[in-house]
Amino acid sequence: MSQRKILVTAALPYANGPIHIGHLVEYVQTDVWVRFQRLRGHDCRFFWADDTHGTAIMKSARLAGVTEEQFIAEMSEAHQRDFDTFGINYDHYGSTHSETNRQLCHEIWSAFKEQDLVERKKIVELFDAETGEALPDRFVKGTCPKCKSPDQNGDNCDKCGHTYTPKDLIDPISTISGKPPVEGETDHYFVKIESLQEFLTQWTQCGEHLQDEVANYLKGHFLNEPLRDWDVSRPKPYFGFEIPDTGGQHFWYVWFDAPIGYIASTKEWCEANGEDYNDWWRNEDSEIHHFLGKDIQYFHCLFWPAMLKTAGYQTPTKVHIHGFLTVDGEKMSKSKGTFIKAETYAKHLDPAYLRYYFASKLGPRLDDLDLNFEDFVTKVNSDLVNKIVNLASRTAKFIKDVGLSDTYPDDGGLFEYGAQLGEQIAEAYENCDYAKAMRLIVELADRANPYVENAEPWNLKKDPDKKQQLQDVCTVALNLFRQLVVYLQPVLPRLAEQVGELLNDEITDWNQSQTPLVGTPVNKFKHLLKRIDPKDIEKMTEESKLEVADTDQEDPGAKYNDSGQPMIDEPLADECTIDDFVKVDLRVARVIAAEHVPEARKLLKLTLSLGGDHRRQVFAGIKAAYDPEKLVGRLVVMVANLKPRQMKFGLSEGMVCAAGPGGQDVFLMALDEGAQPGQRVH
Ligand code: 2FM
Ligand code: ZN
Repeated sequence: MSQRKILVTAALPYANGPIHIGHLVEYVQTDVWVRFQRLRGHDCRFFWADDTHGTAIMKSARLAGVTEEQFIAEMSEAHQRDFDTFGINYDHYGSTHSETNRQLCHEIWSAFKEQDLVERKKIVELFDAETGEALPDRFVKGTCPKCKSPDQNGDNCDKCGHTYTPKDLIDPISTISGKPPVEGETDHYFVKIESLQEFLTQWTQCGEHLQDEVANYLKGHFLNEPLRDWDVSRPKPYFGFEIPDTGGQHFWYVWFDAPIGYIASTKEWCEANGEDYNDWWRNEDSEIHHFLGKDIQYFHCLFWPAMLKTAGYQTPTKVHIHGFLTVDGEKMSKSKGTFIKAETYAKHLDPAYLRYYFASKLGPRLDDLDLNFEDFVTKVNSDLVNKIVNLASRTAKFIKDVGLSDTYPDDGGLFEYGAQLGEQIAEAYENCDYAKAMRLIVELADRANPYVENAEPWNLKKDPDKKQQLQDVCTVALNLFRQLVVYLQPVLPRLAEQVGELLNDEITDWNQSQTPLVGTPVNKFKHLLKRIDPKDIEKMTEESKLEVADTDQEDPGAKYNDSGQPMIDEPLADECTIDDFVKVDLRVARVIAAEHVPEARKLLKLTLSLGGDHRRQVFAGIKAAYDPEKLVGRLVVMVANLKPRQMKFGLSEGMVCAAGPGGQDVFLMALDEGAQPGQRVH
């Protein structure tokens, strides 16, 4: 078969939280497919990135007291660490907040404008009734208008998959204040996607690019009526890219620039590797495969092909859509400890187990995948360890001194049978039916095991006259094992690597499953995969519960909605000691006179009393914020031992303490009643 050129993507993870096992279903599915294609000798690349824009990330960054750039940089590192742990082998990891992506967004936007597909319209939007902030979709919750499930997000329903706008929700509330939102009017930019209806109907319904259920869903929910204009802008403030020629007032909605990140990631990789990204995105001989979950099919199967088509890019060859992860039959639950972060999983269990388990359950359809812990233990311990890995652990040690026999012994046709099954297994991988591939592989193991049991190499070992027979039996067992491991390489790359080392023959090609290995040395057997101890699962779920207790407890500060901006604007000063601090003598003082300084724009002249006849004159930059008459009589805190400073208007003998950036935003430090002028503030 000639070499295919295949570009693969998985959905770009939001840079707004850690990777959990629900995400991993998709990333494992994608990675297995990519590794399979490479093993078959194709030029297959996996381009990926973090999805970094939107109000949610803007808010998280502020709450964390860092800039959005710092926030997404840390998140990207954490994500990539997890991917590494789980063996997710992408070629390039970019960010949608990159210059490359910005330029591509401009290019695609220009194409829409040139084809007269952009329109500016006023829309009625929802705002928080208390804070007055515009409410993005995900900041409104309510009851799904279709299936009536409560507590659904403002953009689509977790239960029935229906998409809508926050205004369609029944009994909506703002997640900021918990109050019903209020309506207001703003300008937005829309793409007139109805103009592409004919193309989209053809593309989605031709049977080549989508699973049948996806094509039918799109037809039944969207394409059977005129497509609504797509709102691609958000008003400032928004963390994203500014839409050109809008004076910084409008930004592209995160879902506009997110999929363009697929192209940007490709382009960055191409620039670093001397390739042209057009060879991937504007080349009929290259295939484009997207992997994603059913909740975002709408964006990828309507808007995305519309964007690509308009800007003269190639449309996706296939969009592979999967269902959600449930754990023990239920939605992942924080309180039950089944909302498990990738990092927490890996502290307790080998990532290979989860890769194998997911593979054994992933089919080509959109059904949800259930992680049932009992089944998980059985599949790993009985199938993977007992049936497959044991083929090697029961035989390799017996022939480490002599190696594999020089010619492949008669095995009753077992190897040949396994070789012939290769094409069926490959077809299952190609069609994303990994469950079938795993089933076929385990069936092969079921044929291999009786061979070893009947031949009893452990008894042959005891008889010095049966050395040749022992070598032959172990040669057969190890070859049957190696054949299985070649087939499993996309799922268990680490195991394949170890087996390559054991048999001195690196596994790099699917065809290695077709010819037995003979006459090569066998290295000392090193442990490959151990059985799962169910106690480790318990420990993992317990830890997950505790993490939730840490992060999910009602934050008593949440209701104040305090922004992290001041800490960003003015980060903490260097650490000081108590000795440094006591050098500054802070005292309670009473304002006994306050007046304007006519020549000074910002200053008020204050006369402060420290009690008795201790008086200080202080010039304070608080004119825009305070009326002098209203200050007289109140208590303030002053730096009383500050070296006096001669100013144009007189001597300033201290400083009053206040917060805020200046101008009207200055807030004097206040003291509770009872404090006495002259008392020291510690
Ligand atoms: O649903 C999500 O998690 C999105 N961050 C996926 C984006 S995929 C692509 F369009 F960028
Ligand atoms: Zn619903």
